[in-house]
Amino acid sequence: MYPERLVSGMRPTDKLHLGHYYSVLQEWRRLQSEQSCLFFIADWHALGGEVEACARMEKHTRDMLLDWLAAGIDPTQATLFIQSEVPEHAELQLLLAMATPANWLDLSEAAQDGSFANLAYVLLQAADALIYRASHVAMYENQSAQLEMMREIARRFNHLFGSEKDFEEKAESAVKKLGSKRARLYAELRTAYQQEGRAGALEQAKAMLDEAQNLSMIDRERLFGYLEGSRKLILVEPEVSLLPQSSLPGLDGQRMQSRQANVICLREDAANVERKVRAMPTDPARVSRSDPGAPDKCPVWPLHQAFSPQQQCGDVRAGCMRAVIGCVDCKQQLAANIIAAQAPLHEAVQTYLDDPSLLRAITADGAEHARKLARETLRDVREAMGLQYQFAGAPL
Ligand code: TRP
Ligand code: SF4
Repeated sequence: MYPERLVSGMRPTDKLHLGHYYSVLQEWRRLQSEQSCLFFIADWHALGGEVEACARMEKHTRDMLLDWLAAGIDPTQATLFIQSEVPEHAELQLLLAMATPANWLDLSEAAQDGSFANLAYVLLQAADALIYRASHVAMYENQSAQLEMMREIARRFNHLFGSEKDFEEKAESAVKKLGSKRARLYAELRTAYQQEGRAGALEQAKAMLDEAQNLSMIDRERLFGYLEGSRKLILVEPEVSLLPQSSLPGLDGQRMQSRQANVICLREDAANVERKVRAMPTDPARVSRSDPGAPDKCPVWPLHQAFSPQQQCGDVRAGCMRAVIGCVDCKQQLAANIIAAQAPLHEAVQTYLDDPSLLRAITADGAEHARKLARETLRDVREAMGLQYQFAGAPL
């Protein structure tokens, strides 16, 4: 079957913060070491409907890329690219639109208030993953409806366009190319699956096809499709790979979220970190230095728990409750620990800040690789839709 491949993307709207660093970016880092990953900056998705977004796009895209690199997302392990530099996403979106009933899209009033592009968001998102025949898409749990939509779009496309003239004959002749022993096994497993519904037989047959060396890509796809029915699988229905939600507390004690203006940015400079921490509210009962405090009522405390060593946490907590440590001192210690945690992130991007042409090279390489994969899919999609013009040999 098609190779395992994971796709995920982020819109370059808000700056990434430490909550992103300790959740989604750590997860991406794990994923990139385990499988072939494509991570893209979804700039088209960030356009939404506001003209102002365009003016900020380059800055946001550069910042996001730097944040990824700071977090150890590695262009030598994963493919990093910018969505709009792979225009094949848009062509597939257009073609998928033909196979997608309009009433599948979100026609709620809220959506109609936005631009037309907003309405077609899910279709572009489906194209983002389907163009790479992704086996997995990394998404948040609350995006499961969007994933289901991707799968439905792929399924319906295969159903509408996966039929091929003389499919059975072509599939049977592909079976012969397996060699007599494998061909017999294939036939047995196919029967076992289709007539007895044995899922194990399907798995076994797929594994055998994966190993069969002497098959062309197209014959392999025919044989995969032939196992389950009578259609080629042109697009792949991806599985979800769930991204963890961040639980890092923000400057107000609530979850750190860009929307709440309670964030410390991933590469926030040290002076800013100090200023933000200094301005944090504390236990309101601690009016003067000699009043004992209750760390559990103070948003500084959960951040200590996230960033300070255990011993120091113990000292701070006891010191606060016995009024032997002041809030200014307590906050200074916290700020120092956050700054120390960020130091390697700053260090990791210094070479890119010194020479931004390296960023250009990373995204150019990424787009080139992504386009190669995307073109293969599009070629098959175009052919399936009758858009491959040879003129010689066409029925008159
Ligand atoms: N919708 C995602 C977000 O808002 C970004 C995204 C666009 C995406 N296309 C995708 C994620 C395809 C996974 C797969 O963050
Ligand atoms: Fe909060 Fe620290 Fe002040 Fe206690 S000492 S109230 S934990 S800032």
